[in-house]
Amino acid sequence: MAKPPATTLFLCSLLAVAAAAAATWIGHDEQDDVSTYIVHHIAHPLPRLLYSYAHAATGFAARLTARQAMHVEAQPCVAAVVRDTVYELHTTLSSSFLRLSPSSGLQAESNGATDAVIAVLDTGIYPDHASFASDPSLSPTPPPTFRGECVSTPEFNASVCCNNKLVGAKMFYEGASGKPINETEDSKSPLDTTGHGTHSAAIAAGSPVSDANLFGFANGVAKGTAPGARIAVYKVCWKMGCFGSDVVAGMNEAIADGVDIISLSLAVSRKKTFVEDPTAISGFNAVRKGILVVASAGSNGPKESTVTNTAPWLLTVGASSMNRQFQTIIVLGDGQTFSGTSLYPGDTDGSMKSLVFGGFAGSAVCEIGKLDASKVAGKIVLCEAGQVLDAEKGVAVAQAGGFGVIVSSRSSYGEYAKATAHLIPGTTVPNAAALEILRYMVKTPYPVGKILFFGTVLSSSPSSPRIASFSARGPSIAAPEILKPDVVAPGVSILAAWSRLISPTELDVDKRRVKFNILSGTSASCPHVSGVAALLKIARPSWTPAMIMSALTTTAYVQDSSGNAIVDMATGKPGGPFELGAGHVDPNSALHPGLVYDAGVDDYLDVLCALGYSDEDTVGIFLRDGTITNCSTRASTTVADLNRGSISVVVTAYGDEITVRRTVRNVGSNVDAVYTVGGVPPPGTQLRIRPSKLVFDAEHQTRTYTVVIRTVSSGSFDKYTHGSIVWSDGAHKVRSPIAVTWPPSHSAAVAAI
Ligand SMILES: *[C@@H]1O[C@H](CO)[C@@H](O)[C@H](O)[C@H]1NC(C)=O
Ligand SMILES: *[C@@H]1O[C@H](CO)[C@@H](O)[C@H](O)[C@H]1NC(C)=O
Ligand SMILES: *[C@@H]1O[C@H](CO)[C@@H](O)[C@H](O)[C@H]1NC(C)=O
Repeated sequence: MAKPPATTLFLCSLLAVAAAAAATWIGHDEQDDVSTYIVHHIAHPLPRLLYSYAHAATGFAARLTARQAMHVEAQPCVAAVVRDTVYELHTTLSSSFLRLSPSSGLQAESNGATDAVIAVLDTGIYPDHASFASDPSLSPTPPPTFRGECVSTPEFNASVCCNNKLVGAKMFYEGASGKPINETEDSKSPLDTTGHGTHSAAIAAGSPVSDANLFGFANGVAKGTAPGARIAVYKVCWKMGCFGSDVVAGMNEAIADGVDIISLSLAVSRKKTFVEDPTAISGFNAVRKGILVVASAGSNGPKESTVTNTAPWLLTVGASSMNRQFQTIIVLGDGQTFSGTSLYPGDTDGSMKSLVFGGFAGSAVCEIGKLDASKVAGKIVLCEAGQVLDAEKGVAVAQAGGFGVIVSSRSSYGEYAKATAHLIPGTTVPNAAALEILRYMVKTPYPVGKILFFGTVLSSSPSSPRIASFSARGPSIAAPEILKPDVVAPGVSILAAWSRLISPTELDVDKRRVKFNILSGTSASCPHVSGVAALLKIARPSWTPAMIMSALTTTAYVQDSSGNAIVDMATGKPGGPFELGAGHVDPNSALHPGLVYDAGVDDYLDVLCALGYSDEDTVGIFLRDGTITNCSTRASTTVADLNRGSISVVVTAYGDEITVRRTVRNVGSNVDAVYTVGGVPPPGTQLRIRPSKLVFDAEHQTRTYTVVIRTVSSGSFDKYTHGSIVWSDGAHKVRSPIAVTWPPSHSAAVAAI
């Protein structure tokens, strides 16, 4: 269908608004609850309601009642009306752990990405920090392609806060202010009162700062993965959360400002279709403009299908550990010892104290005000996981006169325990250790113990990286044939800049203020990859977002420092593609991937049609120029055929034979390259790869191959199995994981056996 003339489009907008207004009268529904809705429009010029979008989506956001929303949706020019959702924030060694060096490899070839601007959509920034200071080694102005700026407010003086490092700062609160922003807690400015955005921005592109540490922990040079890149901040998250309409508005602005990479450490936690997911829609429009969007996988693991930000055009990042721990040892009266982790800045005299379980003193999870002082005074209290922040459990113990606290990690977390900057002698231990300590306490009349603090420990044992238990897992609910997460990156105990407007534990009772904080979450792993992507974009300016993603995934590694498969901390077993994606990012290798899998807007539209979003209007939501895509005129394809550096297939019937097509482009320096294939079939399958040799004889030549995955009877009995294929020319290894999801009957048959 041809693009409608502009006058029709304008009329269309007016009609949509008029419909909303009319509904107010028709329905007499003034008493109805009003919510923010994002209206995806087929058209261009729009009245300004809360926001009108032109870049990240086509449409507007407005406060409507449910009835008004229905009326708007009935308008012919309206593609969809989506109720606004609240997003969750996911929550320096990492540069060297990523083997980044200013003198060689990716950082050297991109000059630290001084010509790149990374957009950080988050809680804003605390600008008065060495990580964001004016940098004399950078050009005084940002790259000419960047058109953004810093806004000034009474609390954020742009001429003081912004410089040649922090080149943009804007805020978006129209969606959030559906409920008024409490300006005592939140600044209606780009200023970060929460810390999260400051931390994310510094991980991506903070300038090097020496002697950075938190209470002496993790001391060293803190620097972003792209230390020369410029930062543009879009504050879309507030104390009450991040609203979809604000996120789309921020994306819209970032696209218009001409940023190079968008870093999104946030997501909707609910399982959604791409059509309902603002990051999918606005991310699509960013990718159309050549802007790669890097997004966190989410920190709600380890359950399966918890992964968020799963659109195939987003680079979705899970979290893994490094070779650094903040170690404690608990010694019990009977001589048993257990390892834990803590960022408590003090020490103890090393004497044994009485131990008591919170559950025997009024509150198993150690809530403030619920512990019986007569039972905990002077003692170390063991607290169960959950309900309140770990640091708050310490506060509860302190307020009841306790001496110290041992916090149990969640049982689902396995060996993972989160490091916390406790206010009293305190440590977190894996759940199994907590149970052993409890067992000792129950069987001993006068249980005693002590906590020893060992500070920062760099060690090859246990091996690293390991997959963080909280890191969200695949398969993706919206499209299980798109492997998610894509990669993992450091996200456990990451030191980076912090806001002085909040304590390191984020508790009000904690009056400490720090320049750097240590956080764990996919929120911290995402900006590492945003920085790496910025370096790649500068080093390889002709690469599309899909090529950057491909290079990062096909060169990712899957073995840990001991040479074994990377272990999942939740299970203690090797992780598969639904935990690890293609593997752990390896920036310097990504510079030389050999072959890449490219894909563009048309491929993504094919996938949307293949996913059954067949209604022309629905797919049209993704296209901001008013074009309508007609799925029935598109090449029929399968979702698994999308040209990416990973393969995920869903077996619907036992005995299936699934064929997947891929096209690779030779980007290696050797024009006459010959690649041969090797593979590890996922248990329960046989692989046939045709051809098994790819011969290239011209620059940037492409070659297509097919993989036939045949399910065989003598299979594994797992719900998911995985393998891989690797193309190699001797110099490069181009690896793709293969994930297989088996039908429920497969597992049921096993249960019957
Ligand atoms: C912002 O800072 C500049 C430079 O210090 C100063 O001249 C200007 O008056 C300040 N603006 C406001 C609104 O405070
Ligand atoms: C705003 O936040 C302050 C500080 O947390 C609190 O004391 C106050 O009650 C809040 N106001 C409203 C209206 O919630
Ligand atoms: C989509 O294409 C089919 C087949 O060409 C055609 O019948 C149908 O009318 C088209 N739909 C629209 C909305 O253009």
